[in-house]
Order: sequence, then C-alpha cells, then structure tokens
Amino acid sequence: MIGVHFVFLLLLGVVASTQGANILGLFSSHSPSHLIIHMSVAKALVKAGHNVTVVSMLKPKVTHKDIHLIVVPMKEEQERIMEDQMTEMAGQKNSLVSTMYRLLTSMDVMINAQAELLSDPRFQRIYETKFDLMILGYFINDFQLGVAHKLKVPVIINWMSAPVPAIDKYTGNPSELSYVPLMGTVATQPMGFLKRTENALKSLLFEFIFVVFDYKLTRIYNDVFPEQDMPTLKELRKNISMAFVGSHLISEGPIRPLVPALIEIGGIQVKDKPDPLPKDIDQFISNAKQGAVFLSLGSNVKSSTVRPEIVQIIFKVLSELKENVIWKWEDLENTPGNSSNILYKNWLPQDDILAHPNTKLFITHAGKGGITEAQYHGVPMVALPIFGDQPGNAALMEKSGYGLALDLLSITEDSLRDALKEVLENQKYKQAIGQFSTLYRDRPMTAKQSVVFWTEYILRHQGAPNLQSPSVHMNFIQLNNLDIYALIVTILVLFVLLTRLVAKIVWNKFGGKAKISQTKKKQ
Ligand SMILES: *[C@@H]1O[C@H](CO)[C@@H](O)[C@H](O)[C@H]1NC(C)=O
Ligand SMILES: *[C@@H]1O[C@H](CO)[C@@H](O)[C@H](O)[C@H]1NC(C)=O
Ligand SMILES: *[C@@H]1O[C@H](CO)[C@@H](O)[C@H](O)[C@H]1NC(C)=O
Repeated sequence: MIGVHFVFLLLLGVVASTQGANILGLFSSHSPSHLIIHMSVAKALVKAGHNVTVVSMLKPKVTHKDIHLIVVPMKEEQERIMEDQMTEMAGQKNSLVSTMYRLLTSMDVMINAQAELLSDPRFQRIYETKFDLMILGYFINDFQLGVAHKLKVPVIINWMSAPVPAIDKYTGNPSELSYVPLMGTVATQPMGFLKRTENALKSLLFEFIFVVFDYKLTRIYNDVFPEQDMPTLKELRKNISMAFVGSHLISEGPIRPLVPALIEIGGIQVKDKPDPLPKDIDQFISNAKQGAVFLSLGSNVKSSTVRPEIVQIIFKVLSELKENVIWKWEDLENTPGNSSNILYKNWLPQDDILAHPNTKLFITHAGKGGITEAQYHGVPMVALPIFGDQPGNAALMEKSGYGLALDLLSITEDSLRDALKEVLENQKYKQAIGQFSTLYRDRPMTAKQSVVFWTEYILRHQGAPNLQSPSVHMNFIQLNNLDIYALIVTILVLFVLLTRLVAKIVWNKFGGKAKISQTKKKQ
C-alpha cells in the first residue's frame, strides 16, 4: 500500500514539475530574424501551458498574449552604430570571415550591449522569480550562461540554423569536416580533394576566430559576474543540457551524425495554418491573374540602404512584369516609383504571403528564415544575398534547384529580367522545391511538438546529463587520440633507432673486424 502511494506521489511530483513551469527566454540578439525563431519556441511553450518570460532588446514581431515580455532596448548611440554598419555592409561585398571580423571590431557594440543588459535594473528583476529552466538564444553571447547559473536552472541553447562548430562544441557533436561543408561552403558530395582542403582550412580559420572571440567573451563574463563563487565560463559551457537547431538535415542534407542532445526544430517559425492576410494584400495577390511576386530584402537591412542605382534597376524590371509585385519597403513616403502592379508595404506577414497559392516567386536576400519559409511552402526563389550566411544560403538554394542567385551589387536590368523570367516560366524550379516541401513536412513530430517534448524532458529530469556526449569533457588531443598516435610514433621511431644502433654495434664488432682483418691480410 505504502509502495503504491509512494509511486503515486512520485508520479504526481513529476507531472506537477512539468506543468506550468517557469521558463526564462533570454533572447538578446540584435536581429529581428533571430528573434522570430526564438519567439516561436517561446510561443510553442506558452501554448503548452508554461509560464514563459522573455527578455529581448528588440520588440518582437512574433509574440503571444501570455508571454511576459521585458524589452530593454539598445542605447540610441549603439543603435545608430549598428545601422551605419548594416548600411556599409549592404554597399560592399562581404565574406563570412569579413563579417566575423566586423563583429569583433566595429560591430562589437552588439556583443557589449548584450553584456550591459545583464546589469540593467529592468533585467535584474528576473532574479526575483523562481525559474525552472532557461532558454538562451545564441549569438556570440555565451557569457549569459552565468544567468542560468545564478538562477540554478538547466539551460537549452537555441540556434537559428543547422549546427555550426560552436554548437557542435557545446554538445560534443562530431564536426565531420571531410563531408560536412562549413557554413558558406557549397559542395557536391562526396567532397573532392580541393573542397575538403577548402573546408579544412576554413575550419582552422574558424578555430582561430573562436580563440579571439573566446578571449573577449571570457573577459566580459568575468566583468559581468565578478562574484567569487562563480564557476568559469568554460565550466558553464560544459553544463548545457540541450541545443535546439533550426535545421532538418534528412530533407536538407548533409546527412551526418547528430548527438541526442541536438534536437532539430527547423521550420519552427512556420505556422501550421496561415493567418488570413490583411484585406488589401489578400486582394492584391488573389486578383493577380498572372500570379504574384513577393520581394523582401529582410529585416536587418533597410531597403533604402541599398544603393539607389540598384533599387532603380529592380524597380524598372519589376514594373514591366505582368505579375503583381508586393515589395517590402520601409519608407513609404519615398518609394522607388509608382507602378500599377507594385504594392509597397513596410511590414508584411512573410509566412502568410508565401503560403498563398497565388504567390509564384519570392525575391529574397537569402536569410535562413525566408528561405525556410519558401521551402516549406514550395515557392521558387531569386536570391539577392548581401552578407553573413546569405551568399552561402543563396548558392546552396541555387544548387538544390529551387531558383537562381544573383549578386545584388552587380545586377543589371538584363541579368535580373532573365533570372525572373527563367524562374517564373521554367517549371523545374517549382517542381524541385515542391518535392522538397513534401519531404520537409514529413516528420514523426512537428518542430513545435519537439520543442515541447524535449523542454519538458529537461524539466522532468532537471537537466540531462544522461544525454551528454562524454566528448564534451575531453580536450582536442584526447578527443582525436593524438596522444596515442604520438605514443605509437614514438615507439616506432625508438624501435628504428634502436635497431640501427644494435646493427651498428654488431657491424662494428663482427663485420668491421672481418674487414680490418682482411685489409691486414692484404698488407
Ligand atoms: C510567471 O512569471 C512571472 C515572471 O515573469 C512571475 O511574476 C509569475 O509569478 C509567474 N507565474 C506563476 C504562476 O508562476
Ligand atoms: C507616386 O504617387 C504618389 C501619389 O499617388 C505621389 O505622391 C508620388 O510622388 C509618386 N511617386 C513617384 C516617384 O512618382
Ligand atoms: C549545471 O546544470 C544543472 C542543471 O542541469 C544545475 O542544477 C547546476 O547548478 C549547473 N551547474 C553549474 C556549475 O552551473
């Protein structure tokens, strides 16, 4: 009887601890598109009955009435620096490496602001609530892991796209450089010698950049958490329970092993059922006999920061189309030009527009979020990438056959017109992305169900050390068995040296004597 009662109480305890848990979402990344992904995770948890508090530095576009939102904006001056940087980047060619360098130098306000946030009184209030779990929206801000330590709660990291080396490190996931192209590398499989060389060199470069970032992040961590009893940042990185990643590799590729602590939630931001569109947009799309084209250059770069000549090229070509065009443009007072087939809007429900059956083409800056939504809804694309992961996303999209990619800075009327005509008229792009869309949706659990299940798993077990790969606690030498190889090589070398030495002694003793005695005889 006592046993039964005990089990019953235990069950009750388990249920109680996962229902209506207090969850903190720390989403301070200064990117609206990152925030959309993080907020979609928060929303899934609120809908599952949890009490979610979100701290962000931007006002989120996706939210829910039951999410407790604390917005602590950047200082105006920092905001201005960020905007200037974005404008500068939109006017030049940017590699992933130059973008990272920029993040370390002129754009480091973005990292510093996330540190200053932690000592803001509006943030400090969170320490008054008893939380059960923290979700950290990751973007070069792992010093914020100190918050979870102070709250004494397990941490889940949320990352916007497929696992990158930093996420691999946190979870002990093998990076498999010989066939997993790093962000920004586009490769046909199996990867040939040159591609593998490129990937390996890039990985070394990233390792170096990591060391530089690590120095900066550790310094910030020590500044923000000067308390004596704080563990080191290194220790906290080894105490991350799980990472959510914005991918679905069995449809997107490359196929690679993923440790159990990496959970794929690619497409979390896509609504199960689209919301109805605002009336004017709905009519504009529905009434287009030839279908509609949707143009958005994303949320980081304001359209007006793209060079005016380029904007004029885009306007000229789009105004000649027989399709209706919806153009995301911030400054409605100063539009690129008037044309009866173009509708300018400064904010658009991207996901809902892409879900509309009459949307035939998406012209995009190739941000991960937009590409994912177009892939989910099977809408072919023309990509005009600008910086960061966008050129890589665009190249991969083109290689997969879902559309064409052009270089935004060097487009001409002809190149743009040809690309639009090709993707609108040749059915192969629509077919390829339609097939992908079917694969992408075919899963045992939806992205939202995965988020809810695994978050509650971590809550039930108060962390998940059972899921953690032992490799998290090994250094580079141990993990790659370099010490063992070194030992084997040492033994081999010693053996060869010893053999030579012995041979020499033997030679001197016998062969040498024989020779000497022979020469003696001749004399
Ligand atoms: C929900 O979280 C807020 C903090 O944002 C807290 O004040 C409130 O007490 C929590 N509600 C419950 C039922 O725990
Ligand atoms: C477009 O039309 C509006 C009024 O309909 C006008 O105010 C604006 O100046 C026009 N813009 C251009 C570039 O012609
Ligand atoms: C490690 O995480 C667990 C929960 O998963 C937490 O209880 C513990 O305090 C954390 N340790 C440190 C050093 O932060």
